Amino acid sequence: MIKMIWAMDEDNLVGKGDKLPWHIKEDLIYYKSKTEGQTVLMGDTTYYSLRGYYKTKPLPYGKIYVATIDKNLKIEGIDNVTMVYDLVDFLKNVKEDIFVVGGATIYKISLPYADQLYISFVKGHHEGDRYFPTIDYSKYNLIFENNTDEVRYTVFERIK
Ligand SMILES: NC(=O)c1ccc[n+]([C@@H]2O[C@H](COP(=O)([O-])OP(=O)(O)OC[C@H]3O[C@@H](n4cnc5c(N)ncnc54)[C@H](OP(=O)(O)O)[C@@H]3O)[C@@H](O)[C@H]2O)c1
Repeated sequence: MIKMIWAMDEDNLVGKGDKLPWHIKEDLIYYKSKTEGQTVLMGDTTYYSLRGYYKTKPLPYGKIYVATIDKNLKIEGIDNVTMVYDLVDFLKNVKEDIFVVGGATIYKISLPYADQLYISFVKGHHEGDRYFPTIDYSKYNLIFENNTDEVRYTVFERIK
């Protein structure tokens, strides 16, 4: 199953440069509770951004697929990384349960293949420059919802 998880504001904003446009601790805790130890897929930009945060510590996932179009790029080191050079082929054929964890480019390419969408709707409008594409919600059922002051946590499941 392919799941995607992200936070976006009321303008579908997801990023500012290589960073998040906001700092919402409860959403980071929620994100960690869902993705810790899981097999994840991310773009190389997001990987290097997370690497900057974690410094010498390994990222808190299980297996990490890193998508890049640079066929010469190899990531070696403390993380359990497998490179993905053909993202669409990977998404069509993956048999494992994976969480797509960003960023904007990888979300856009992955959306048509995703079974479940874990969306944290951040309230308000923020500054940034990376957006999630428009979603056709009629293709999904809402299967989870929890509303807090800052965020509406949801899970949508694709209608088969
Ligand atoms: N709000 C959230 O929940 C959330 C979560 C994660 C990230 N983000 C935000 O997202 C932003 C980063 O997004 P981004 O779009 O700049 O970077 P990204 O999605 O992390 O990575 C983009 C990279 O993916 C590779 N790629 C593109 N198409 C590909 C394909 N068809 N096959 C294989 N690889 C492919 C390219 O690698 P090359 O380098 O080879 O061109 C491209 O540079 C940041 O602002 C970050 O904070 C937000």
